[in-house]
Amino acid sequence: MMPALNRILLAAVVVGTTGCQFFGSVDRDVVQKGSRGTAMEVNYVSRDQNAAMAAMAAKMPAILPPAGESPPGPLPWQNVQVLNDISVAEFNRTMVSMATWVAGGAGNCGYCHNLASFAADTYPDGKAIYTKAVARRMIQMTRNINSEWTEHVGNTGVTCYTCHVGKPLPNGLWFYTDENQILRHYLDGAGARVTSKTIAPSAANRSSVKQTEWTYALMISQSNSLGVNCTFCHNSRQFASWDQAPPQRVTAYAGIQMLRDLNTNYLAPLAPVYHPSRLGPKGDAPKAQCSTCHNGVYKPLYGFQMAKHYPAFWGTHTDWVTPFPPPYTTPPAPVPMDTVAVATDSAAAAGPPVRTP
Ligand code: HEC
Ligand code: HEC
Ligand code: HEC
Ligand code: HEC
Repeated sequence: MMPALNRILLAAVVVGTTGCQFFGSVDRDVVQKGSRGTAMEVNYVSRDQNAAMAAMAAKMPAILPPAGESPPGPLPWQNVQVLNDISVAEFNRTMVSMATWVAGGAGNCGYCHNLASFAADTYPDGKAIYTKAVARRMIQMTRNINSEWTEHVGNTGVTCYTCHVGKPLPNGLWFYTDENQILRHYLDGAGARVTSKTIAPSAANRSSVKQTEWTYALMISQSNSLGVNCTFCHNSRQFASWDQAPPQRVTAYAGIQMLRDLNTNYLAPLAPVYHPSRLGPKGDAPKAQCSTCHNGVYKPLYGFQMAKHYPAFWGTHTDWVTPFPPPYTTPPAPVPMDTVAVATDSAAAAGPPVRTP
């Protein structure tokens, strides 16, 4: 009785999964990328990419008209530490845009400011305005992405809207949980490569089943983040091969390196700045992943080039210009990582060079 039931269940699963692959589920759009017969087709999550693109465009705030003439004379600011290389008119245009992209409306200056003094980093009662401190660091991070990570973002770049899409908290935020958390791969630099080069087990590749599961979970999260299947980045007859993979895999590799930079150098160190309610169960700051920018699409905003209209986000990026004013003078303590045996990188020499930004 039980074995028979199992067989029926197994048959149902097999029919179910192969059915999806062979006939395409209702909401998939399948595009053939490689030669016929090589199974190099890409499944996009949305059947109608044009409709999805139109829905995204309808929500997107308009690009503000270019900034007009600025009054002559030196910059009037009292406490501008990053945006001191753009004109007064461009600065004001940038503030209005930031309010729209992050704080939900062009008039919501008070989300980051003491309205009695725009230069102040504190409220009238002396309490620090954490949103302003975070936003200042976010401007530096955005400049860093657009100037240092062109390998990934090309000349499309990003603005605050790419991640924030009109609200204070972007999508895809994550925190440390336990040692089985796959997104830690973005942060700790553990190799995702697990495929053996030999038939029999050998000392050259110590990857465990557990690490293989992490790699696959990471890959599934990347696929979901971009709304594509594995063949967007791999030739599925040889997942480890860079030669046979579409060029998107190299872009994705730069994306992983970029996220390590963003998470370790910009987002995690903000832990002491945030309001405690924003922190995770282990006290770490919220971090980003592929979906934070991509939002389920192979290129964020379908490749719409919003950033080129905003010179404020292309300037040179400067590291912590001035450390946070008191009470933020103590450098943030690193969050202890879980200790996990790390796989020897099975194909370290075969991949693109590891980038040190
Ligand atoms: C998302 C947060 C955020 C929002 C919303 C925001 N600002 Fe700002 N604002 C900042 C940051 C950060 C700085 C400091 C920039 C720097 O150090 O380069 C700043 C600086 C300023 C300054 C310079 C003050 C000085 O003399 O030092 C003015 C003026 C200003 N903002 C006006 C506005 C106005 C008007 C609005 C609403 C339309 C607005 N801001 C909305 C984050 C924000
Ligand atoms: C790569 C994605 C990314 C980009 C680009 C980005 N942010 Fe953020 N931002 C985040 C993440 C992640 C957080 C953490 C969310 C939280 O506070 O819980 C955050 C938080 C913030 C917060 C604090 C929100 C809160 O209430 O806790 C502000 C303010 C902010 N960002 C402003 C900006 C501004 C202004 C820009 C553009 C100059 C920008 N961000 C660009 C990812 C991004
Ligand atoms: C957006 C691009 C992208 C997608 C989609 C993607 N991968 Fe990957 N995959 C990569 C990159 C980049 C690496 C190399 C990571 C590294 O070396 O650190 C990789 C590595 C791997 C590896 C390890 C190869 C080795 O050398 O050991 C396997 C296995 C793998 N992917 C399987 C999958 C599967 C299965 C899927 C679909 C569920 C998938 N990938 C989807 C980009 C992608
Ligand atoms: C800071 C925002 C940001 C993050 C985070 C990010 N991406 Fe991207 N990604 C972009 C932008 C912008 C583009 C478009 C670049 C262009 O137009 O040339 C892009 C393009 C890509 C492409 C090329 C798509 C194509 O059609 O050629 C791949 C693949 C990709 N990203 C994978 C990833 C993966 C995997 C991750 C997570 C490891 C990731 N991205 C994280 C912003 C981001």
